[in-house]
Amino acid sequence: MTDRSSGAVSAGDLAASTDAVILVGGKGTRLRPLTTSVPKPMLPVAGYPFLQHLLARIREAGMTHVVMGTSYRAEVFEEYFGDGSDLGLDIEYVVEKDPLGTGGGIRNVCDRLRHDRAMVFNGDVLGGTDLGAVLRTHVDNDADVTLHLLRVADPRAFGCVPTDSEGRVTEFLEKTEDPPTDQINAGCYVFRRSIIEGIPEGRPVSVEREVFPALLERGARVYGHVDQAYWRDLGTPSDFIRGSSDLVRGIAPSPLIEGRHGEALVDPSAAVAGGALLFGGTVVGRGAEIGAGARVDTSVILEGVVVEAGATLERCVIAAGARIGARAHLVDSVIGEGAVIGARCELVGGSGFARVWPGVQIPDGGLRFSSDI
Ligand code: GDD
Ligand code: MG
Repeated sequence: MTDRSSGAVSAGDLAASTDAVILVGGKGTRLRPLTTSVPKPMLPVAGYPFLQHLLARIREAGMTHVVMGTSYRAEVFEEYFGDGSDLGLDIEYVVEKDPLGTGGGIRNVCDRLRHDRAMVFNGDVLGGTDLGAVLRTHVDNDADVTLHLLRVADPRAFGCVPTDSEGRVTEFLEKTEDPPTDQINAGCYVFRRSIIEGIPEGRPVSVEREVFPALLERGARVYGHVDQAYWRDLGTPSDFIRGSSDLVRGIAPSPLIEGRHGEALVDPSAAVAGGALLFGGTVVGRGAEIGAGARVDTSVILEGVVVEAGATLERCVIAAGARIGARAHLVDSVIGEGAVIGARCELVGGSGFARVWPGVQIPDGGLRFSSDI
């Protein structure tokens, strides 16, 4: 602790003097084909583009100035959120012509920052962390950088971040096969502005592989804020579906759907026939149609989709305008925009997800996964 303790400053005041930066320039390859036309943070989750849930949490914490670091399909963000005033925010957009990586993306927004402190978010993390508490940890430690950390069962797919007994970060190991601890980088950081100014300009830089290791090397004050709040990176189909379902069922918090939790979230303009069963945190988007006797479990049904009578879906994402034929059976499948899965087809993902590309048409009875025919 230092004499700069934030004890006297409220969390709201800390947030009001902090810029929010959101990294949304990634290509979202693991979610293809959903991300061939829509950038990952704009995919609808529980009825809203994923990013809108994060923006609502940023606003709720008391930050109002947001800078988005965009690259892949950059225009989509500004078309949808505009200047942010509808959300009570002031949003600016900075475009990387060629992707600059996570560190380069942070450096690239530096001249838009208005405060001496910025809270940086990976744009694909669904979380329930108390953002004010992360800011307080940062100020109380007089830190150069504070990383939100959490423990997970399998840390190999993440940045592994050990800390000492004072909460000071000792190492940053991005995606290693043999991580020394199960404590990982949750993809939310608080930076002192001068540290951002020190990131090399004009070339791709990874915050995880270059900036953090270099800061630790030179003895900068890098601290961790560990908690046990809800957390999920929505980068794969299985996490995307689970995150959406958790929002619908109220397991993951979002200010956007408070008071509307249940087994399914159905847009008022969707048509659900009698006897159709929707459960497991399923979401049904605008203008979608679910036929009689269909059974939809833990799935994301986007705008204008038609699911015909008697079809069964389990852990699926069906992109806008796709059609699932009568009595088709889909498990662990991602169906691209406008694709048609014929009646009685069977699609069952195995260790991965079955992925059908946009516009592909599989005729009635054209694909089976059965042990007998
Ligand atoms: N502006 C910009 N430019 N943003 C980018 C770029 C870029 O070149 N590359 C990636 N991003 C954005 C992505 O859109 C995403 O929101 C975020 O940066 C992180 O990229 P991912 O591709 O999702 O990384 P990851 O999930 O494999 O790993 C990261 O997140 C984990 C937590 O979810 C790392 O930060 C790990 O250390 C961390 O554990
Ligand atoms: Mg990610």
